Amino acid sequence: MGADLSTTFTGVRFQNPFLLSSAPPTESESNILRAFEAGWGGVVTKTIGLHPVVNVTGPKTKFLRADADSPHLSMKKRPGAALHSSWNWELISDKTLDWWVPRLGRVKKAFPDRPLVASIMAGSGNDTELRHWQTLAAACQDEGCDALELNLSCPHMDRQDMGSNIGKDRALVSIVTKAVKEVARVPVWAKLTPSTTDIVVEARGAFLGGADAISSSNTFTSLPLLDAETLEFEINVDGLVSTGGLGGPAILPLSLAKISELTQAFPDKSFSGIGGISTFEHALNYFLLGCGTVQVCTAAMLDSAIGPNVIRLLNQGLARFLEKHADKGWTRVDELVGLRRDRVVSQSRIRRPDEKEYHGGHETSEGYAVAPEEIETPRR
Ligand SMILES: Cc1cc2nc3c(=O)[nH]c(=O)nc-3n(C[C@H](O)[C@H](O)[C@H](O)COP(=O)(O)O)c2cc1C
Repeated sequence: MGADLSTTFTGVRFQNPFLLSSAPPTESESNILRAFEAGWGGVVTKTIGLHPVVNVTGPKTKFLRADADSPHLSMKKRPGAALHSSWNWELISDKTLDWWVPRLGRVKKAFPDRPLVASIMAGSGNDTELRHWQTLAAACQDEGCDALELNLSCPHMDRQDMGSNIGKDRALVSIVTKAVKEVARVPVWAKLTPSTTDIVVEARGAFLGGADAISSSNTFTSLPLLDAETLEFEINVDGLVSTGGLGGPAILPLSLAKISELTQAFPDKSFSGIGGISTFEHALNYFLLGCGTVQVCTAAMLDSAIGPNVIRLLNQGLARFLEKHADKGWTRVDELVGLRRDRVVSQSRIRRPDEKEYHGGHETSEGYAVAPEEIETPRR
């Protein structure tokens, strides 16, 4: 009998814990159908909104590559270079809610047992915008969507009341989540921005608003590099650029640090890990730190648009891992979740050589009233 790859996350059953994240691989009905045929456990749609969306002229995404034998980094395609990251300034879906509604219904009819998560976005400045969130939520769940993911994290929004500008404000995160929860009959996941000082603060806001899970990370705010010959940004329109989002391998360790902070602060809550995943070993990091599912974007974009080989290898990797460790009782991914969460500690708890003590940069305990274990970063 093969390994059981299934899991239940926020009450929704997935045949495997690997999802395509909200991005170009999930921007159309045909892509989503292909993704389910390829074996993805779930799909989060490209973000759907009600406001007008017009993307920039020219490429919306490019890939930064590193040479093996020099420190050179460039978006220029060249032999022997390895992927460093993706960089994008793509907005949310430029298709309307009316365009999406019948397509969501058709996907659910074709794959009733595969979770389809609708990613949605509206503003936050007034009651009308909060009602937009509710309109989007109601329309998507009426078509059979199994969960909702709130995009509180798009890093390239001009509107101050949208995207990561909401995700940077604990109160707004809470208000928006609560507004959606008022109408939601399905679980609500809040996708937070990594571009804040302390993601635990915004996560607390989301949970106060009733979020069933946190998804992290969206892309990290970043700029493309300037070309030393032309003095032009490697991606630009008429010489101009704006900040965009970094994804792919470069953000794997960054995103893991965010996840570690989140899962330690909220050990009993649910998390969907995103950022730099292309192999099972990458995904395993997220499971061990406390994520119940993971999501993939950049690696899938580079693999026939929806990642047929990526998902095959992810499933294969999980199956092999579970078979190899069956004697430890790890028969399902759920048993791995959080196993290494508590191995991340403050610096002062790491052993020093020669039995010397370290008090986290404080003077020695003489004259210092607080025991070292109490000096750790305070819980927010
Ligand atoms: C071109 C592109 C478009 C994206 N569009 C969205 C979006 O509409 N909504 C969203 O929540 N995240 C969006 N993302 C972010 C991804 O879902 C994901 O969080 C991020 O790329 C990190 O994952 P990765 O390292 O696997 O790429 C987009 C990413 C890229 C590269």
